[in-house]
Amino acid sequence: MTGPYSEKVMDHFMNPRNVGEIDDADGVGTVGNPACGDIMQMFIKVENDTIIDAKFKTFGCGAAIASSSMATELIKGKTITDALKVTNEEVSNELGGLPKIKRHCSVLAEEALHNALADYYKKQGKEAPFKLKTSDEFHHDE
Ligand code: FES
Repeated sequence: MTGPYSEKVMDHFMNPRNVGEIDDADGVGTVGNPACGDIMQMFIKVENDTIIDAKFKTFGCGAAIASSSMATELIKGKTITDALKVTNEEVSNELGGLPKIKRHCSVLAEEALHNALADYYKKQGKEAPFKLKTSDEFHHDE
C-alpha cells in the first residue's frame, strides 16, 4: 500500500540513495523548515565545475527523505550551472508527484541544493551567480 505516494516516492523513502556526509565536501547546505521543524543537509563534491558526488542527511518526513534522495541523484554528474536549474518541481515530477501538502518537502531539497552551491562559490572565493531565495519566497504558496 502506498497511500497518496507514488511508488517512486516510496522507493526513495525506503531505499534512499546517497545518504551520508562527504568529509571534504566543496559545498554544504543546511536548511530547515520552520513550519514542520524538518532539517536537511546536502553535501557536494565538485571537480572541473561538475558535481562528482552528492550526499544528504535529512531529519524529516518521508517525502523530504525521498526528495533529497532524488535531488542528489539528479545533480550527480551535472555541471554547477545545470545543477542550479534543478527545481523543486523537477524533483517532485521525477518522484512521480507529491501530494500538495507535501510540496514544501521538495522545496526543502531545492533550498538545500542552492545553499550547498552558494557555499561552494563562497569557498572558492567567488561570487555566486544567483541570489538565494528567502524562506518567504519559497514558502509563500503553502
Ligand atoms: Fe517537513 Fe516534509 S513535513 S519536510
